[in-house]
Amino acid sequence: MCGIVGYLGFRNATEILINGLKRLEYRGYDSAGIALILDNKLKIYKCKGKVADLENLIKYKNTISTIGIGHTRWATHGEPNDINAHPHQSMKGYFSIIHNGIIENYIELRTFLQEKDYKFIGETDTEILANFFEYVYLKNKTSNENYSPEDAIRACLQKVDGAYGLVILCKDTPNQLIAARKSSPLVIGSAKKEYFIASDASCLVEYTDRVIYLDDNDIAIINNRGLTITDLENNVHNPIFDKIEVKLEEIEKAGFDHYMLKEIFEQPTSIHNTFRGRLNLKDKSITLGGLQEIFPELVKAKRIIIIACGTSWHAGLVGEYLFEELARIPTEVEYASEFRYRNPIIFEDDIILAISQSGETADTLAAIKLAKKSGAKVIGICNVVGSSIARETIAGVYTHAGAEIGVASTKAFTSQITILTMMALSIGLSKKTISKEQFDDILIGISEVPNKIEEFFKTQTDNIKEISEKIYNKKNSIYLGRGYLYPVAMEGALKLKEISYIHAEGYPAAEMKHGPIALIDEEMPVVVIAPKENSYDKIVSNIQEVKARHGIIIAIVTKGEKNLKNVADYIIEIPETEAQLLPLISVIPLQLLAYYIATKLGKNVDQPRNLAKSVTVE
Ligand code: F6R
Repeated sequence: MCGIVGYLGFRNATEILINGLKRLEYRGYDSAGIALILDNKLKIYKCKGKVADLENLIKYKNTISTIGIGHTRWATHGEPNDINAHPHQSMKGYFSIIHNGIIENYIELRTFLQEKDYKFIGETDTEILANFFEYVYLKNKTSNENYSPEDAIRACLQKVDGAYGLVILCKDTPNQLIAARKSSPLVIGSAKKEYFIASDASCLVEYTDRVIYLDDNDIAIINNRGLTITDLENNVHNPIFDKIEVKLEEIEKAGFDHYMLKEIFEQPTSIHNTFRGRLNLKDKSITLGGLQEIFPELVKAKRIIIIACGTSWHAGLVGEYLFEELARIPTEVEYASEFRYRNPIIFEDDIILAISQSGETADTLAAIKLAKKSGAKVIGICNVVGSSIARETIAGVYTHAGAEIGVASTKAFTSQITILTMMALSIGLSKKTISKEQFDDILIGISEVPNKIEEFFKTQTDNIKEISEKIYNKKNSIYLGRGYLYPVAMEGALKLKEISYIHAEGYPAAEMKHGPIALIDEEMPVVVIAPKENSYDKIVSNIQEVKARHGIIIAIVTKGEKNLKNVADYIIEIPETEAQLLPLISVIPLQLLAYYIATKLGKNVDQPRNLAKSVTVE
């Protein structure tokens, strides 16, 4: 949440900042701004709206500078408006800062500063922080002329509670950027005589592939002498350089109208990339390198607790079915935000599995830290390489789905499930809870999924678009599935509500008669996932119950299925596969249906209202 960019070098900083903000806009898009050093003075341009509005604002202004910071906002404290937009400047004009996160003790800091006659013009916690830096800096500077802005920042941050990714300019050090991180991601890119700072490495790929991921409590000072990283006590740390894995083409739209559509259609490739090099068809084996050391403990695990949020939580629910069926390990799936606040019972021989696309979700990160304190072993499934969750866990597997930019998660979900299936199969084979024959069948099934999805796109995309044109104006929707497809039903409902703002609920199909059936009338679309491999007869009965109440039935059935043709209003055919692999294929029509309904309604699917990718606040 909130995109941050900083630049120090020899090029026009404004162009680099605007370009970076456009790439990071998926992290927040309610206001945007930049701060530059112009003629040794701090100059800020900011406004409510998107980065394009900011571009208009600065069109005819002098913005040529070689140093600057930029921000695109997802509001936490204070409504989106010009004043609350970042960067924020301190009252006497010494500091300008951008911030991603939440300062929890902001009221205490504001009261302290008000007693020192500081005045505030906006409602943000960030403005308070800018003034706190200024107050401490000026106060100490009078008695010690060597006192530096970074001394003040270190002293202040020791008194700050909460989460922050910060980049700071001070007018007394016009050739210097200072960055600080605690629980909100920050990465520094380095090229010849240039430094870049960003909240996400993917926006740096066009400039450099050498990056340093800052750790909690790191302060980075970048100036003409280079880069120095210290902690809050001013101990110097050696920077550790990593290589960015993301390719430039991954973060372009490649001719698609939206990132979301591109990412839906990328799934044959992204799933293939997830199992490539891990699933060996020749000798019918699976190797998950990142789990090798912990694997014996996984096999012995008495319980797996999966922690995640949103779509990743839905993938976790599929994981529960997989681990319990194939590996016979009792599995619980917890919302990370609930898990961490309810004093959970965690045993030392539990395996905690965190699932996250971004690897930065604040609730998941906090739940991991809590579980680690209890002595449990925490492993992860993440998409973003080098992310905080990847670094916080003792072992794990990257999904390699490629950059996911559309706010609604699509390809990350199918890649997470691919990993979970491979994990459950490996453990199951080792524990002998599945036969080698079943292992081989599902393994071959995984390898065939990409082609099956390609085939599905060719035959069904137009059909789904036509269905969306028939139902786009309905106010509600119900999604039904059983077993492995119940989490998929919930995921389908989440996709629809987040991008089209139509109310939708996902239910286990049999639960419908215990309440939701009361909602069904001729205005209610009911999407039922009913392939023949999955409790088919039972779900046909559920469909009949909907039919009897005149609901609009959209049935997702196995290709060639005839029985439901006269019952359902609309049919979407999916290819046949193993029951355990159905989530991978059956979620695709739900993603497309949500996409086409939302675009028909004229919604901005890549930047849905109130949402942002990478939820770095709790
Ligand atoms: C829904 C969506 C969110 C995320 C959730 C967790 O389309 O994108 O529900 O799944 O915020 O994010 P990650 O997986 O990054 O931890």
